[in-house]
Amino acid sequence: MSKLFNIRFTWPVPVLLGGLLIALTANAAEPASLREAAQARGKLVGFAMFGKPGLDAKYDETAVREFNVVVCENAMKFGCVCPAARGQYDFSVPDAIVGFAQTNKVKVRGHCLVWHFQQPNWFSRGEWSKHEMGDILHEHIRTMLTHYKGKVFAWDVVNEAISDSKDPHEIYRKDNYYDVLGPEYLDMAFRWAHETDPQARLIYNEYGTEFGGVKFEKMYQMLKGMKARGVPVDGVGLQMHIGLGAKNQTQKLGSTIRKLGELGLEVQITELDVAIDLPCDDKKLQTQAKIFGDIAATAMEEKACTALLMWGFTDKHSWLPQFSNGKRGCGLIFDEQYRPKPAYSAMLKAMTK
Ligand code: G3I
Repeated sequence: MSKLFNIRFTWPVPVLLGGLLIALTANAAEPASLREAAQARGKLVGFAMFGKPGLDAKYDETAVREFNVVVCENAMKFGCVCPAARGQYDFSVPDAIVGFAQTNKVKVRGHCLVWHFQQPNWFSRGEWSKHEMGDILHEHIRTMLTHYKGKVFAWDVVNEAISDSKDPHEIYRKDNYYDVLGPEYLDMAFRWAHETDPQARLIYNEYGTEFGGVKFEKMYQMLKGMKARGVPVDGVGLQMHIGLGAKNQTQKLGSTIRKLGELGLEVQITELDVAIDLPCDDKKLQTQAKIFGDIAATAMEEKACTALLMWGFTDKHSWLPQFSNGKRGCGLIFDEQYRPKPAYSAMLKAMTK
């Protein structure tokens, strides 16, 4: 006779039922992962993949356990996918990431088609007429969306096009696209993306706009104009590269999301990290946890917000130290040994209904 059979007869039925109920309730209250918690709320939770799959088993395991959406940190950028010459695409790294995602039933965001940074040298150093640059951009967008049709559900079509100037009249960043094509390049890029993959969600992605302010207003007016002109923009990516100073700002995120939602746009939080001035200590980690928790709660509650992605997940791989001469870091939810930080627990709690 099996052990189970013995148990059924040695323990009174009400005790067994009570135990079962506790087990079920505990299970319902505590999802095993962020992925499970997000799924229960009908949302996406994700990360930017550093490198490619197959380099570090612990990294890959943690990623698929915790997340249901991935974005390539660099691999789909123009300069990475088409480095050598016009028309010479090397999809090996992004294809490996997409394959890994498909095997593990993880969705893929595409980042990014049009950006002032990380352009291939053959393009950024070239002298292009308006016509030539338009052709190159069209070709790039068509190539990427054709290659990933049905595999990438949402694209950052244009990234960081708004000027950082405090002058509310200076709307656009003066990069090579703007200089040669004029501000119309944004409409063109979205239309070209839509014509190639009408099913893809087309996103405008930006930093420094999540808590309102001059830059947010510029972005809002730009998107309002695009919607009025019938440009196929479906949503906004709020990057959210923030620091501990955001502690008293997080309550503004909900209103940002609602305002964009009223324009008929979905909102995806696309690159969240909360940088700490090094060295890191327990107090800073607790403040960081509170910020991650508040943002996760807002992302779950706000209808217009469909996804919450972080710019990585382990402090082992983060852009922060490299881009701050080692002054800032520790911005993600797992430490360098893949141990969950207080920020992880705060997120899980905030995402659990
Ligand atoms: O691939 C080369 C490698 O061959 C070379 O040996 C090495 C030497 O420095 O550089 C490597 O390229 C670096 C690349 O990251 C991959 O590690 C580039 O120099 C470096 O500039 C690049 O930085 C990326 C940065 O964007 C610039 O493109 C960061 O990893 C990436 O996290 C960051 O991501 C951006 C988002 O795309 C847009 N929003 C802001 C966010 C953070 O800056």
